[in-house]
Amino acid sequence: MPRILIIDSDPQTTSWLSGALEEFGFEAETLSDRAAGATRLTRGDIDLVIAELPTTEQDTRGFVQGLRSNNAGTRVILSSAFGTVEDAVEAMRSGASDYLSKPFSWEQVQIAVERCLERVQLESENKALKAALDDRLRFSNLVANNAKMQAIFKTVNAVAATRTTVLLTGESGTGKTLLARAIHSASQRRDEPFIEVNCGALPESLLESELFGHAKGAFTGAVRDREGKFAAADKGTIFLDEIGTSSPGFQVKLLRVLQDRIITRVGDSKNIEIDVRVILATNIDLQKAVEEGSFREDLFYRINVVPLEMPPLRDRTGDIGLLAEHFLRRFCDETGKQIHSFTQAAMHSLMACPWPGNVRQLENVVERAVVLCEGDTIDSEDLPTDLRGPLPHEITPESLVAGDSHLLPLKQALEAPEKLLIERALQHHGGNRQATASTLGINRSTLFNKMRKFDLL
Ligand SMILES: Nc1ncnc2c1ncn2[C@@H]1O[C@H](COP(=O)(O)OP(=O)(O)O)[C@@H](O)[C@H]1O
Ligand SMILES: [Mg+2]
Repeated sequence: MPRILIIDSDPQTTSWLSGALEEFGFEAETLSDRAAGATRLTRGDIDLVIAELPTTEQDTRGFVQGLRSNNAGTRVILSSAFGTVEDAVEAMRSGASDYLSKPFSWEQVQIAVERCLERVQLESENKALKAALDDRLRFSNLVANNAKMQAIFKTVNAVAATRTTVLLTGESGTGKTLLARAIHSASQRRDEPFIEVNCGALPESLLESELFGHAKGAFTGAVRDREGKFAAADKGTIFLDEIGTSSPGFQVKLLRVLQDRIITRVGDSKNIEIDVRVILATNIDLQKAVEEGSFREDLFYRINVVPLEMPPLRDRTGDIGLLAEHFLRRFCDETGKQIHSFTQAAMHSLMACPWPGNVRQLENVVERAVVLCEGDTIDSEDLPTDLRGPLPHEITPESLVAGDSHLLPLKQALEAPEKLLIERALQHHGGNRQATASTLGINRSTLFNKMRKFDLL
């Protein structure tokens, strides 16, 4: 029960106010002079002080700080009978939480007290949340309290030391890449290379030489021997992302590597033995792909040794607060801003959002909010107007123009069609960046930067 101390020289005010507060369920104490009030505060159990600013007091700041220094964390609402607007402003500047000009109504007091205590509660929840962000809820850079996620961490701990192949499934943005890195960091291979390859982004021929390397003269343009990613990952870990859409030819070769741990460079006959831990990821349903014939069944069984399914964020709403807090702290560190928490309204919006883009989308929303936020608390107005709207990747240029529900800032709204156009051009050219860049009329490095920005690499 919040305990409120009233310091006021007018006995009528104190008795009326304490009666009303008690009736409302607060514990109220009254004192008529400031020195006694200051002493009382040193006991440290007062949540809020409603103090009359003495008419003789010139130094409002000193007055408020004097009260607060006796009980760190206590909030102060100042009142004054002679108050002007300037006094009110000065009171707020001095660290008071609110200002009431006498005579005040019960309603005014109630609003001020509730606002103030909500703030106190938020801060203590925030502290609790911070304390909760301890190692128990962390696995490398992953934060999670959700039972399924904790089970995943447990499995990872159990298999980290082995060379067992791990298959990560789950929607885009659920943390597959982050987990792959975490597995590597948890293993004895942590000081060896971690090599990441997006298998969906390259056409079969390129992917093959990218992964296995090629011998000089293997094809036009192969002017020298080139080491592939598998060889580069020797003793370490290779992370093959977007494995679900790889070509049949590539699947055969991958199966061989996984079975024999031997690679052959393109245009070469020599077998090279490698010691690599393979982690694969896909956001498609491989079982279904097998049934439909687009994914080899034997390869599926070979890689489905330790399957870990990352739950979508909407199925772990309990983690939303934890993640939002984690990102808030990270972006505050990065930008030097001092924002300590979210308002309850903002947190409600975050909890209610279905997060089709999962943790990645939440991360972006928090980053944007940190940029926009001008105070020390993130409020609903710092969040996108339509958190429940479709995700950028679901917006087609048609829907963007036809609908009126996608009230996003222009820059953000234009990113969705831009990403789509780049994706389509890349698909059209089988992943060839040079051709894609020239079709789009941009240079290769611009294309590369955009691909990186849109996570198309
Ligand atoms: N549990 C988590 N804790 C902290 N950050 C996370 C978590 N899951 C995902 N992220 C962050 O969200 C973003 C998307 O994660 P990522 O691993 O790239 O997802 P995926 O590979 O499944 O698309 C990354 O910036 C990542 O750092
Ligand atoms: Mg990824």
